[in-house]
Amino acid sequence: MKIHLVPYNTQDPEEAAELAAAFAKYYPTSPWLPSVEKIMQGGTHYFRAFRGETQLGITGYIIKTPTLAETVKTTVFHDYRGQGVGQSLSQAIEEECRRCGIRKVMTTIFSSNHAMISIKLKQGYTIEGYHRDHEAPGFHEYSLGKILS
Ligand SMILES: CC(C)(COP(=O)(O)OP(=O)(O)OC[C@H]1O[C@@H](n2cnc3c(N)ncnc32)[C@H](O)[C@@H]1OP(=O)(O)O)[C@@H](O)C(=O)NCCC(=O)NCCS
Repeated sequence: MKIHLVPYNTQDPEEAAELAAAFAKYYPTSPWLPSVEKIMQGGTHYFRAFRGETQLGITGYIIKTPTLAETVKTTVFHDYRGQGVGQSLSQAIEEECRRCGIRKVMTTIFSSNHAMISIKLKQGYTIEGYHRDHEAPGFHEYSLGKILS
């Protein structure tokens, strides 16, 4: 599936508010969703994910070191789930990281999120850790990583 990514301007209050609202609607599992203020502080590169003219979701990354990035907040809007879009977004953000010179990508995923864990394992990620009570008490996560060749 051909996906193209267009960066959000997180310094624009309207775009930051749109992002915060989208996470509240489509990403309700996290206890710590980013607020408008947090989004506007910067540090995370967020992208609109399009197929043609239609935005299907959101994805992003955080630069951790010059060669390591953490991919974050890959989110498919409800109407487009179950059609392979999550897999394509995961691939697209990995390619974006590679384009920026990143050599390793990692991500953390709630242990209950079998769909996303399954996507990452199929794309060559390995489980590098299990973090109990990680994001908050009761929110256990796996970290998965992939060295880019
Ligand atoms: C997770 C999410 C991105 C998946 O998006 P999606 O477009 O529905 O996923 P896809 O259609 O690309 O693929 C899902 C894959 O996971 C598999 N899957 C789905 N539910 C599953 C489950 N409960 N257990 C195991 N695998 C599952 C599917 O079988 C499919 O693999 P297949 O094509 O080999 O059959 C989407 O549900 C979402 O946005 N959730 C909310 C935000 C979120 O949790 N993001 C991830 C944060 S790390």
